[in-house]
Amino acid sequence: MIKFALYISNVSIGLSNIEFNDLIIAARRYNKTHKISGILLRIDEIFLQYIEGPEKSIDILYQKIIKDHRHTSIKLLETGKIESRKYENWEMLLKKTSLKEINQILKKNTIEAHKNSIDHNMARLILEEFIS
Ligand SMILES: Cc1cc2nc3c(=O)[nH]c(=O)nc-3n(C[C@H](O)[C@H](O)[C@H](O)COP(=O)(O)O)c2cc1C
Repeated sequence: MIKFALYISNVSIGLSNIEFNDLIIAARRYNKTHKISGILLRIDEIFLQYIEGPEKSIDILYQKIIKDHRHTSIKLLETGKIESRKYENWEMLLKKTSLKEINQILKKNTIEAHKNSIDHNMARLILEEFIS
């Protein structure tokens, strides 16, 4: 069984593009070694991340992530076990988008997202759109 965790957070004020790129490079390297796959969506100043992998690896990584000062207000939306991976081929797929674009996606489902109002159902709808 594979464990997954889905959370949302706010990008820390002042996080530079260089720091963000460094974060992604290090994350991909770590995830590859620890058999973790997933997606990180940057929606303006919001992070939405889904990670999946061996239970122990996910637990350890999530504990690291919640202590990270590069984001704040981390909220776990959903966690659980699944039979197979959704992002098999991605150490960490990165997508950048805006709240405006997200609301266009959600409009099709007649719901609207505001900062801090994205629940796990919305998050899943959003992520489905970004599986390429
Ligand atoms: C939004 C966000 C997503 C992150 N995703 C990952 C990830 O997928 N894999 C990873 O190894 N680190 C990720 N990190 C970095 C970890 O929080 C942490 O800095 C890294 O695991 C190193 O931790 P350590 O210094 O305690 O060993 C992420 C950080 C942020 C802010």
